[in-house]
Amino acid sequence: MESPILAPSILAADHTRLADDVHAVESLGVQWLHIDIMDGHFVPNLSFGPKTVADLRSKSKLFFDVHLMINNPSEYIEPFAHAGADLISIHVEPEYDVAETLIRIRELGAKPGIVINPNTKVDAAIPFLSQVYLILAMTVEPGFGGQSFTESVLEKVRELDEIRQSQSLNFRIEVDGGINTETAELCRNSGVDTFVAGTAFFKAPDRGAFMDRIQSMD
Ligand code: DX5
Ligand code: ZN
Repeated sequence: MESPILAPSILAADHTRLADDVHAVESLGVQWLHIDIMDGHFVPNLSFGPKTVADLRSKSKLFFDVHLMINNPSEYIEPFAHAGADLISIHVEPEYDVAETLIRIRELGAKPGIVINPNTKVDAAIPFLSQVYLILAMTVEPGFGGQSFTESVLEKVRELDEIRQSQSLNFRIEVDGGINTETAELCRNSGVDTFVAGTAFFKAPDRGAFMDRIQSMD
């Protein structure tokens, strides 16, 4: 299994000081940054747009893990790829051509990811697993940070890890929502290698110690 990577979610950062918070994250030695994009339709919240990503891109070398929680991702992958997204993850739940969109993400030079909500079965992602760099199994209903971890998702993560091993696939497995040092351990033991943390990371008394705890899990 890949070594663990922490992807702090800037949804939980101070939105009046995003560049400073990103710089602080980068100086800790974090490699990834999780950027939650919300449209107010697929999820009942709004967050950032392509310009925020582009402005942060000019100030950061982090790997931008862009999570599109929007109804029509196929219409927005181009602006986010041009803004500097390194990975663009799209949900399977809305009605659009997922396979075609994953191909387009790769053509635009970003890595493709697929996302399933807590109540979405792994079956919905199976057709795409050989096309993606990463699958994100949401551990909360998307839309807001600071929610509690959904333990039932661990069964889906174990199923994804079995598929990865039995089919010799090498997609990363990411979780997002309610991730702290305790829930991260549960996820790691189920096969997760990529951990999105917003609240637990940005509110941590020692962010460096939090990062080390996550990235030193075996
Ligand atoms: C939900 C968001 C959150 C955020 C992390 O739509 O994707 O999961 O990134 O949330 P917390 O604060 O629970 O780590
Ligand atoms: Zn997210």
